[in-house]
Amino acid sequence: MRLDRFLSNLPRFNRQDARQLISQGRIRLDGQECRDAQAEVREFSRVQLDDELLQAGKAARYFMLHKPVGVVSATCHPEHRTVLDLLDEPDKDDLHLAGRLDLNTSGLLLISNDGLWTRRLTLPGSKQPKVYRVQTEQPISTEYIEVFARGLYFAYEDLTTLPAELEILGSHSARLTLHEGRYHQVKRMFGHFQNKVIGLHRERIGPLELGDLPVGNYRVLSDEEVAAF
Ligand code: URA
Repeated sequence: MRLDRFLSNLPRFNRQDARQLISQGRIRLDGQECRDAQAEVREFSRVQLDDELLQAGKAARYFMLHKPVGVVSATCHPEHRTVLDLLDEPDKDDLHLAGRLDLNTSGLLLISNDGLWTRRLTLPGSKQPKVYRVQTEQPISTEYIEVFARGLYFAYEDLTTLPAELEILGSHSARLTLHEGRYHQVKRMFGHFQNKVIGLHRERIGPLELGDLPVGNYRVLSDEEVAAF
């Protein structure tokens, strides 16, 4: 919400008071004097009038998790353990997932209570590369490289997938980089060749790599990692 709106929503100020306080330089946003009535106040923002605290601001939390196979990417589920069950954190109801992985997929998952950040990451236009290691039932031929780079038509969504890069690692294994996240995208792309994916693991999203984070563990992201998106 805009700063002037935030202030005039408080019982003690009307719109004129709000404008005046801002133009007098009496409002501080996250510790800095703010004279911009349109500055954005979020639930995480600290707002002060002179030295008086008007809003403390919630702590924004950002995590990366190494999702194991068999744990569901949801905040609650009637049958399976969820990824949130793996987090030893307070106020887990506040947390949401930046994208999902299938039940039988492992790897990097990002979790936060900052809805703007998770949305930015998951918007179709975000184009953050997502890197997967894939194991297949049938051999992978070099023909796949060109077909994936050209894009595949998905009739259900009536779209052609963005060019994807395939690096063949072995007869039945490859590394695939996608620049979007369609439903079951990797499995459907290999499905084009009637080749079943029998192992799928996400190694990276944009600049964030899972590295040697053990399976089932999680860690807090650094300020630089959060800002990278
Ligand atoms: N593509 C899939 O098919 N499954 C996933 O979990 C992620 C990408």
